[in-house]
Amino acid sequence: MRMVDIISKKKNGGILSKEEIDYAVQGYTKGEIPDYQMSSFLMSVYFKGMNKEETANLTMSFVNSGDKADLSAIEGMKVDKHSTGGVGDKISLIVIPLVASFDVPVAKMSGRGLGHTGGTIDKLESIEGFKIELSSEEFIKNVNTYKMAITGQSGNLTPADKKIYALRDVTATVDSIPLIASSVMSKKIASGADAIVLDVKVGSGAFMKSIDEAKELARTMVEIGKSLNRKTVAIVTDMNQPLGHEVGNANEIREAIEVLKGHGSQDETTVALTIASYMTVLGGAFNSFEEAYKALEDLIKSGKAIEKLKQLVKIQGGNPEVIDNPDLLPQAKYHVEVKSACAGYVASIDAEEIGIAAMLLGAGRKTKEDIIDYAAGITMVKKVGDKVEEGDILCILHTNMTQCSESQAVAVKAFVVDKNAPAPVNYIYDIIQ
Ligand code: URA
Repeated sequence: MRMVDIISKKKNGGILSKEEIDYAVQGYTKGEIPDYQMSSFLMSVYFKGMNKEETANLTMSFVNSGDKADLSAIEGMKVDKHSTGGVGDKISLIVIPLVASFDVPVAKMSGRGLGHTGGTIDKLESIEGFKIELSSEEFIKNVNTYKMAITGQSGNLTPADKKIYALRDVTATVDSIPLIASSVMSKKIASGADAIVLDVKVGSGAFMKSIDEAKELARTMVEIGKSLNRKTVAIVTDMNQPLGHEVGNANEIREAIEVLKGHGSQDETTVALTIASYMTVLGGAFNSFEEAYKALEDLIKSGKAIEKLKQLVKIQGGNPEVIDNPDLLPQAKYHVEVKSACAGYVASIDAEEIGIAAMLLGAGRKTKEDIIDYAAGITMVKKVGDKVEEGDILCILHTNMTQCSESQAVAVKAFVVDKNAPAPVNYIYDIIQ
């Protein structure tokens, strides 16, 4: 077999066999196929796509490129969730304690953020002492005892995806449905989930910019999950503005605490409860979505949800006092107000631009080597649909940098203020199962 023939076949719209996909993926992972040939292959997939069978074979080729987590020692149906990436997306922090409260085991392996999207692991590290590198024995013991644990992706899971994702990032081939679907699903399969809830983001801050594309991605991933005997549900959610009011690491922990205390914003709470409801239904705790949603609302009202988050912080070595006193989280020295130059209604907020503005403040990484400032972030004072007067604060930049004019310029441009009020925003567009 020759890589050039495989590229040529895909370039001409051909259907690749399992052997051809394995040849390309395993050869590249081992360093036998150079970057320039894999780049060309990825671009041909980007333009010509892949059918269901090719996408499932690509997924399994990623899975088989490395180790698979052995979670067989965990009792019960292990339920995982995955977001395709957004801005202000702190849903994992909220759903882990919610779902675990109903004795559904959540064995969560999470990643770090890169570019304009954040990572759950970075957010949790803003809590003093929180340990995210757990040995597999500790991880399994915590899930069996407390029904929840979170760890950075350990071992050598899906090395092909890691290497290919890095190449996609610099060859403009990220936003391809078969490539995203196989990347996401391979990580979920390799990390041992029995059931998976996918949060497929759509809008200005997401890889999928249109609802039709997002639905197609959702359907593709649900089909892969089912073909591999994993119960899978995908929820298409809005990312046309940041989720909730906080963007950044410590900021997002603060907001997750508020949601679990029952004081969350409507968008954040609705999306989190919808995802947690499907997770508990797939995990067998409830028979219907409606029953689960009501039980989760009651759990928050009873104060038990926030206690479960406190338990997670405690068992992973973090300072549990942050739950009662979030001021103990890292705080920035400077708070810069971004104001509206005119009156009207917030018509749109470019979520990706807000993510970039936060990254420029130090909340995210431009390159893998960058060091995060946990205190940096943005508070969204105004959201889409809000009325504004000239001079009103749109958002507040939190930073330890003495100068943040670049971030200020990006943030102000992200807001579009119009004389007319926009149509009400949707939080959830579709549920595919
Ligand atoms: N998230 C992933 O894990 N992979 C992608 O390709 C895109 C989003």
